[in-house]
Amino acid sequence: MDDLLEWRKEFPILEKTTYLISHSLGAMPRRTADALQEFAEVWASRGIRAWEEGWWEMPVTIGNLIASIIGAGPGEVVMHQNVSVCQSLVTSCFDWSGVRNKLVTDGLNFPSNDYIHYGLERQGARVSQVASPDGMTLPIGLMLNAIDEQTQLVSVSHVAFRSSFVQDLHAIIQRAHEVGAFVVADLYQSAGTLPVNVRALGVDFATGGSVKWLCGGPGAGYLYVRPDLRARLRPAATGWMAHRRPFEFESGPIDFADDAFRFLNGTPAIPALYSARSGYEIVNQIGVAAIRAKSLRQTQRLIELADEASLPVRSCRNPQTRGGVVVIDVPNGDQVARELARREVLVDYRPNAGIRIAPHFYTADDELDYAIAEMVSIANVQGRE
Ligand SMILES: Cc1ncc(COP(=O)(O)O)c(C=O)c1O
Repeated sequence: MDDLLEWRKEFPILEKTTYLISHSLGAMPRRTADALQEFAEVWASRGIRAWEEGWWEMPVTIGNLIASIIGAGPGEVVMHQNVSVCQSLVTSCFDWSGVRNKLVTDGLNFPSNDYIHYGLERQGARVSQVASPDGMTLPIGLMLNAIDEQTQLVSVSHVAFRSSFVQDLHAIIQRAHEVGAFVVADLYQSAGTLPVNVRALGVDFATGGSVKWLCGGPGAGYLYVRPDLRARLRPAATGWMAHRRPFEFESGPIDFADDAFRFLNGTPAIPALYSARSGYEIVNQIGVAAIRAKSLRQTQRLIELADEASLPVRSCRNPQTRGGVVVIDVPNGDQVARELARREVLVDYRPNAGIRIAPHFYTADDELDYAIAEMVSIANVQGRE
């Protein structure tokens, strides 16, 4: 008995589509349509008063729903538009012109983060990218060796987007703190499918977004900052919402707020926050431990089905380092993924990896059997052509 299948009726797309792409865009909850309608009604009926009746606080009140998923406390997470904005904000907290100017990034990090890291070179940063020997995994020793006394910031993806490899955040944070460096962890591919506890880890910053495992929709990313660091941090990427007295409209340098508003910038993307809410509520209600237990079972089933069909599995088999995605490498993977989509089976393809397949809490076992059978039939047809 899989109790989580009860949730299927809350996700309209599952009626017609085999939806195995929640690592890219989670299915939309039915109630999200009501939330967006609510946004329109509040705007239409309350007008400007909506700001003081909830909109102004929304980057923090919605952030609280993320906080309970990642082990942060209330008022410790703020919402932005996406991870790229959050990562830029984090790196803007540091002076890169001194002796401690090294930024260590893992070779599996999301490219957007690295574009930001390399952009800091003009401010004096030295970027050290720790290469993955196989493009899919990264032995922890390589990361730890790269972190030294000149390191200011370590940027690490908790779960790698390409391969779903789970990195040892605990070891990386410990090493960084030993040498006085900070750590920003990108939780986009872990939060909502793998238990994360930012407080227990002691991580300094964490970023992530909504569109994947959290079923929250585009335009809503989140930033966690360790509360005891707040007073020391003065982000250069800022805005009037971060001011202690925003409605005094004071010109000149900013006088930062003491609370999480310190890490905001300008007017928040309010409709995106309405659309993100339902997914977060559902993940909170189910609990990530139950989601992970199911994910481990179903990713194992996918691996076994691929083995039976002699399809090469490129992602980790070890449950300790296996995230929510199984990567299967078939010839012409991009074409196979497109043909699967035509048959209403949604997965995706990433160069140098393969086809990424992700069950989520709403996935039925027989959908996995079906997807692999369709892959085999497409690969056979292609083989004959
Ligand atoms: C690990 C990871 N980080 C960041 C991103 C993208 O972040 P954003 O578009 O919110 O800047 C993705 C999206 O695919 C991702 O998988």
